[in-house]
Amino acid sequence: MTPVRTIVFATNNAHKLEEIRSIVGSDIRILSLADIGCHDDIPEDADTFEGNALQKALYVKEHYGYDCFADDSGLIVDALGGEPGVRSARYAGPGHDSKANMALLLKNLEGVECRTARFVTVIALIEGDERRFFEGRVEGRILEHEQGTGGFGYDPVFLPEGFTETFACMAPGQKNAISHRGLATQKLLRHLSAVK
Ligand code: IMP
Repeated sequence: MTPVRTIVFATNNAHKLEEIRSIVGSDIRILSLADIGCHDDIPEDADTFEGNALQKALYVKEHYGYDCFADDSGLIVDALGGEPGVRSARYAGPGHDSKANMALLLKNLEGVECRTARFVTVIALIEGDERRFFEGRVEGRILEHEQGTGGFGYDPVFLPEGFTETFACMAPGQKNAISHRGLATQKLLRHLSAVK
């Protein structure tokens, strides 16, 4: 019997872990940072999504020896020169939450007509000496007011192209099927199942 392959997902986000574990099933064992005893504050100070994802995955490989993947995501708004980008989680400053980030975004876009934006996720995978990147993106635009109560982060103000409801109005399965994270994850999983 072929031994089950083990790979670390450099996160402790229970929702992300559950989602990926349910898709890969028993073929690949996915461990979290807590599972490998990593409670370090992993540096994430690059200025691109690729850079941050790679930084996290390399940290685990170098310090713990496991093959590993890590993700980094954010919102890119054209009229703001690509902001909040890699600063999406802390746009309104350290210690601020999603509400404050969204309020600042809407304030910075007051009176702005061009509201095109996209969510991007990059997953970096380290397998032995090899590095691979998987990207997902979803185009859309930023509404003037929040719509919907589900999801997280900027979901209530992001209207994906071709839809009439924001991410915050969608059921999780519906959002995953079209989201940046869902698309990047599908690419990663296609690769992992091909090399299994
Ligand atoms: P992370 O790299 O997945 O932790 O995402 C960084 C930040 O980007 C989050 O804290 C959110 O502010 C924003 N973000 C990423 N993905 C989403 C999403 O699917 N919906 C809303 N906001 C998101």
